[in-house]
Amino acid sequence: MEKSGLDSDGRQFKNAEEMWREEIGEEGDLQKKNEWYQKAVGYWQNVEASVDGVLGGYGCVNETDIKTSEAFLKNILSERFASSNSASNRHLVALDCGSGIGRVTKNLLLRYFNEVDLVEPVSHFLEVAQTNLNPEHIAVSDDHKAANFYCIPLQDFTPEEGRYDIIWIQWCIGQLADDDFVSFFKRAKDLCWTKMIRA
Ligand SMILES: C[S@@+](CC[C@H](N)C(=O)[O-])C[C@H]1O[C@@H](n2cnc3c(N)ncnc32)[C@H](O)[C@@H]1O
Repeated sequence: MEKSGLDSDGRQFKNAEEMWREEIGEEGDLQKKNEWYQKAVGYWQNVEASVDGVLGGYGCVNETDIKTSEAFLKNILSERFASSNSASNRHLVALDCGSGIGRVTKNLLLRYFNEVDLVEPVSHFLEVAQTNLNPEHIAVSDDHKAANFYCIPLQDFTPEEGRYDIIWIQWCIGQLADDDFVSFFKRAKDLCWTKMIRA
């Protein structure tokens, strides 16, 4: 579906392809692509590490966002475990991509997964996530915890083989160039059972 739009400088684009061509150049133009990633991370480095910050000033949607994500997650889990042992009997591990301050891990993933790893390139977000997800600050049982905090962009991250039951990407995938998203998806798909959740 073709959708036109404006960027933050008011430039008009006929569709997403035109926007990506302008932003990251033709395939193989690494310099332009790196500039795109630097700009994206540079933007988030200047954003307050709070729910309102990671939701672009719309912190008020947090509760609804978590509720609808939970409904979606429940569907996925029942699809995944319908014919095997029930999810509650298994040790489940999730990866939260572009996790920001750990909003989704804290409010949703940790209630369903025994371990959650976070990948996030902006260090001040990840530091706040580590504090927010400290077992002393959250009300989940002892066998549910945030395990690893990786300060790295998704395009450079390869999931550990066999570790993850679900790879969760929420409000972050638009940051990745299409070819890097596809490449990440392939790396993940080769290594674990994967359900991508794009938002
Ligand atoms: C809109 S925020 C969403 C944060 C979190 N997923 C949530 O829903 O609360 C987008 C996040 O993507 C992160 N991000 C930006 N570029 C990224 C990249 N190349 N790889 C992974 N994450 C990235 C930002 O630092 C930011 O934390």
